[in-house]
Amino acid sequence: MTKSVQHALVTGGAGFIGSHLVDALIGQGARVTVIDNLTTGKKENLQDAGSRVDFHEGDIRDRDLLQRLMTGVDVVFHQAAVVSVPLSVEQPLFSAAVNETGTLEVLEAARQAGCRRVVLASSSAVYGDDPELPKRENMPFCPLSPYAVQKMTGEYYAGLYNQLYGLETACLRYFNVFGPRQDPSSPYSGVISIFLDRATAGRAPVIYGDGEQTRDFVYVQDVVSANLRAATEKGAAGKAFNIGTGKTITINRLWQQVAELAGIDLVPDYRDARQGDILHSVAAIDAARQDLGFEPEVRFQGGLAQTYDWYQRQ
Ligand code: UD1
Repeated sequence: MTKSVQHALVTGGAGFIGSHLVDALIGQGARVTVIDNLTTGKKENLQDAGSRVDFHEGDIRDRDLLQRLMTGVDVVFHQAAVVSVPLSVEQPLFSAAVNETGTLEVLEAARQAGCRRVVLASSSAVYGDDPELPKRENMPFCPLSPYAVQKMTGEYYAGLYNQLYGLETACLRYFNVFGPRQDPSSPYSGVISIFLDRATAGRAPVIYGDGEQTRDFVYVQDVVSANLRAATEKGAAGKAFNIGTGKTITINRLWQQVAELAGIDLVPDYRDARQGDILHSVAAIDAARQDLGFEPEVRFQGGLAQTYDWYQRQ
């Protein structure tokens, strides 16, 4: 028996992934509360949700606010984080305060409030550059950045809360998520957001390395459906799941597809490979299929076209 979500709290609900999750939860008829400090999140991401979302600008480390917002919540979707790997390298204490202590605050507040389940956003970063492919959940952690250590620690805490306190937890290891609302403005933004932004401006992209590195790009709507399933499926509790598609594309091919969509012909500016860049990344998604009933539904090209349309409208 699966239970539907009655009242959700989405941390980071004004962010890229969080705001799509808010829209879907509202579409399902759930009551939705959001906490977001708007550091990277944007209120306009919640335009569609409008007055149907109970929005609170605040930090997940504000214990009083968090406890207040958890009242009556059955499922917490913890999406708030300092998501930049390079920023975590530059400012390990700051990113740990949000990603590690903040996650513990969320888990503890959920326990105190008697929530049923917490779904945590984790990352494929926990696998590091172990060359074994595809990545499987039982592979050893190999964190190569403070960000990865923080996500791994969040998973350990989630597992403990599941075991020690009976607070159900499920962790989702996102691979390369893309879609509308992804912010292209930082040099460390997702490559698809950067390429689409360049293409709409008629500017050539930078490709680091020879462009033959591959990634498993998963459309944000599929990540949302993984979250909804992780909130309700009985077999999800106490586990971590890869959320990707199991398919890959090279960065060169990605640019070709973007250029075709935009009807442009610009030669990429090839530069040295980024330090610490991994060559290949792809998810095994058997566990998510089995325990969550997860199946990526958006084909890459369709997702790319929808995302391109969105960037054009910005
Ligand atoms: C992604 C995650 C990161 C996570 C890592 C785990 C994003 C934004 N980042 O990093 O949080 O730790 O997976 O494996 O999802 N590239 C270019 N030109 C550009 C931008 C990027 O060639 O303008 C290349 C990069 O060098 C890289 C690939 O595109 O080889 C993907 O880059 P990016 O989107 O930043 O994601 P990851 O590095 O995979």
